[in-house]
Parts: sequence; structure tokens; C-alpha cells
Amino acid sequence: MEKILVLDFGGQYNQLIARRVRDAHIYAEILPYTTDLAKIREQGYKGIIFTGGPNSVYDPASPHYTQNILDLGVPVLGICYGCQLMAWMRGGRVETAPVSEYGKIDLHITGESPLLAGIPANSVVWMSHTDYIAEAPEGFTVVAETANCPCAAMQNTAESLYAVQFHPEVTHTAFGRQLLHNFLYNICGCKGDWVMDSFLSDSVRALREQIGGKQVILGLSGGVDSSVAAALLSRAVGKQLTCVFVDQGLMRKDEGDFVERTFTKLFDMQFVRVNCGGAFLEKLKGVTDPEEKRRIIGAEFYRVFWDEIKARAKGDAYFAQGTIYPDRIESGRGATGGGAGSAVIKTHHNQSAVPADVDFSGILEPLGDLFKDEVRAVGEILGLPRELVWRQPFPGPGLGVRIVGEITAEKIRFVQDSDAVLRDEMAKNGYEKELAQFFTVFTGAKAVGVMGDHRTYENVIAIRAVTTDDFMTADWARIPYDILAAVSNRITNEVEGVNRVVYDITSKPPGTVEWL
Ligand code: XMP
Repeated sequence: MEKILVLDFGGQYNQLIARRVRDAHIYAEILPYTTDLAKIREQGYKGIIFTGGPNSVYDPASPHYTQNILDLGVPVLGICYGCQLMAWMRGGRVETAPVSEYGKIDLHITGESPLLAGIPANSVVWMSHTDYIAEAPEGFTVVAETANCPCAAMQNTAESLYAVQFHPEVTHTAFGRQLLHNFLYNICGCKGDWVMDSFLSDSVRALREQIGGKQVILGLSGGVDSSVAAALLSRAVGKQLTCVFVDQGLMRKDEGDFVERTFTKLFDMQFVRVNCGGAFLEKLKGVTDPEEKRRIIGAEFYRVFWDEIKARAKGDAYFAQGTIYPDRIESGRGATGGGAGSAVIKTHHNQSAVPADVDFSGILEPLGDLFKDEVRAVGEILGLPRELVWRQPFPGPGLGVRIVGEITAEKIRFVQDSDAVLRDEMAKNGYEKELAQFFTVFTGAKAVGVMGDHRTYENVIAIRAVTTDDFMTADWARIPYDILAAVSNRITNEVEGVNRVVYDITSKPPGTVEWL
């Protein structure tokens, strides 16, 4: 398989670069700049991309790399910091620019370049830099400029070294896709063999080989990743797969039944549903502190889940997880980052380790090389319902983080029923796919109302809806008033015990997406 290395120097668009390469049907992997050159050499990459980064190359504390990487005979494309790094490695001059550039900037192509083939002489690119290349290194030709950046692109065609100060991976760069295509196909000589169909047949074959006649156990949450992993493993080994689905009673309305129906009717596997809503409520009795709730739900889930798995695993079995590529990068297992040292804002319980007293033949992470949209594509090919494949993220602690105050069966019903109304109205109005996430929240507030001739004093439900690219920041969604009106009307009419609906207009930050 053709592979491109994205060498990570800490820029914010690193995953996006890998995504764009994969969109062009070439497998890309991200490795930290601390990776050994020997390891890189032995992987046989068709090309290497240096990412951006927040630093100045002339600062000794900045991420650097041995310049021998430029002598591997593998084409290299430097982007932003990566561009300056290439210049610096080869003895060019990098300085603080008299004028920093940020945002959409006009680019002028000044020379012939295979990298810029098919791109008009003048086009818009996305810039974000304070340093610039004041003088390109020997052997390099400058082939593009902007008003404030004399070296916006440079090349050494004899050695297949290319660098651009702007970001071709972001959509604001009008011909970014073309540029990457030029690099990948014309300069690196890739043919584009990374497609989901072949991923599927290759992984089914590899999984069968690895698993042999053994049993596989998978924890199924009903979310996209574990569902696609379940479908893939079912295709590979059928009834050798046991999926354990713990329904803690904090799922959306009818969701547990839907998950059960999907996997028992459409797929060949052993499906185990553990219903433990009652036990969870018992544990949560009287608990109002949000972190304490998360902790209890997490711990209880972990206990129930592993008790069940220990009871099911016969002999040496494999344990499978729906880990995807970004999870590996975020946990530091695939690249830089890892979030070490960053403050815990909320406890995300669903990233817990296998207990020490469970012995498996090995861990299977069949989606470990895929991005979310690739996981979805595989899910569709495997025949999972669209409703499941395109599902919004749902927090591990479920509705527990959408109920302010003590969690009770009645409050769960308020949230489930109001949420079902919201979902229904959004779908009916074709607005469902517009937003990253939307749901309702039991606010814990009560309000006075009037129903017929009676005064009421009942519960307040909030609608929360956000737009976001990465959930690190989010904006509250501008849902059309007509939809909000219909939702409010129906909730107050159909959900007994609720007499008021409010709309949460808080961005993240300062708010978080969930209320708890
Ligand atoms: P916050 O509330 O942190 O949410 O702004 C950001 C995204 O993360 C989801 N979320 C969770 N997901 N386990 C999860 O798997 C959790 O404990 C958890 N808490 C929040 C939230 O739904 C949103 O998509």
C-alpha cells in the first residue's frame, strides 16, 4: 500500500493534512517529529509532508529534525513552519516577518513548478505566520510570492523538495486540493490505492487470519465507532463474535431496543444486552454533584461491563475495541499530543483500560487507522442503518450529564421524551444534518404556567444545539424560529410535567456542550 508520512511539528491542522491526503485515496499516517529517521526510512513512504507548528525555527527549543531526512530521496513538502524548517535545514534565512500575514491572502505564482501546475497565476491562499523565509537556501528557486511574503513557495526540483508558506490543506486556499494532488500524484508518483472497499476486504482477510478459531468479545456502546467495529468483526468471524451491550438506562428514547434490533436482526453474532438501569439509579440516589455522577456512572459501567465479559470469555479470546485513528493520536499512541498536563475539564469515562485480572489473546482495533468519515463509509458499505452511521456523538455517561440535580426515572423520562420531540421536528424539517449535536436538558428549574384555567408549577426543559468542527469550541446553533416554536409547542403539550422550554444560547467557551 502506498503511504505518505505527515511528520507532525505541532501545528493545528495536522490531522486535516492526513485527511486531505486520504481524500485523494492515498493512505497517510501522522508521526511525531521525535520519530527516528531509521523507522521512517524502513517504512518506504512515497512522500513526506512537514506540518505547520507554532514555533520559530531559529529558537533552539523548537521542534527540529535531522536534515538527513531531506536526503532520503523521498519527495518532501513543507507547509508553513515545515516550509521554514526546510529552508533553515538547508541554510536559508528565516526571520520574523516585518508584517505577519493571517487569513486569506493573494498569491502570485512567479515561476514554473510541478507543484503549482494547473493553478492560476493569481489565487487566494490561507496564511498564518509571523516568521518568513527572507532568503531561500542554495539550490532552491522561489516560485510564488504575496505582497508581504517574498518566498511563499520554493522548490528544488532535482531533489524533489517543495515548500509552501500557506496552508493548502484548508478549504480557504482556493487551489489547495490541486496542489496536494500535484504533490501526491505527479511528484511522489502515487496511484491512489486507498479506498474503503479494499480496506474492507483486506481487513476482513487479516482479521480472519489473526483470529483463527478463537472467540472475540466487543463492548458495544451503540455509538458509531463500536457499531462499525461490530459490523466489521461480524463480517469477518460471525458467531465467534460476542457483543456486550450495557444499557444503563440513560440512553435516548428507545435507543437500547434499536441497537438490539439492529445487531440481532442484521448481523451474525452473539449479542448480549445487560439491562441495569435500576441498579444505576440505586447507585445514583441522592447524588447531585456533576463530577460525582460521572464518576459513579463510569465506575458502575466499568464494573458491570467487565463482570459480564469475564463471565463470557471462554479460554483465550480476543478483546475488540472501536478505537479510531484520532483516539490513538489523542492518547499519544499514534503521534504527538496526548494532552498530558492539560486540566481535566470533565471525566470522560469511556476511555478506560482493560482490568489487570483479565487475560486476552490480544486487543483488536480494526478501525485504528481510520478517520471518522472513513469509519462511516465502512459502516455504510457493511449495511449498518444510516441512522446509526450518521449518529451524533453521545456522551458515555448518557443522559446522566443532561439531568441537573438527582437523577430519577421521572427526570430521565422528561429528557427522553422531550429529546425525541426535538429529534423528530429537526428530521421532519430536514434540519437534522445541519448541526453537529442537539439535545434537550432537564434544567432542574421549575416555573409557573397556566394550563386551561389552572395554574401550574412544573419543570423547565432546555434545548441545546451547537455547530462545531471539533467540539473543542462550539457556537450555539441558529435553529429557525419556526422549528423552535414547533418543538416548544409539542414538548409542553406532549411531555407531561413540563410547562416551559428555553433555548440555550451559550457558546463554548465559556459554556461546555453538555450541561454537566
Ligand atoms: P463538552 O460538554 O465537554 O462536550 O463540551 C464535548 C463533546 O463531548 C461529549 N461528551 C462526552 N463524550 N464521554 C464521551 O464519550 C463523556 O463523558 C462526555 N462528556 C461530554 C459531548 O456530548 C460533546 O459531543
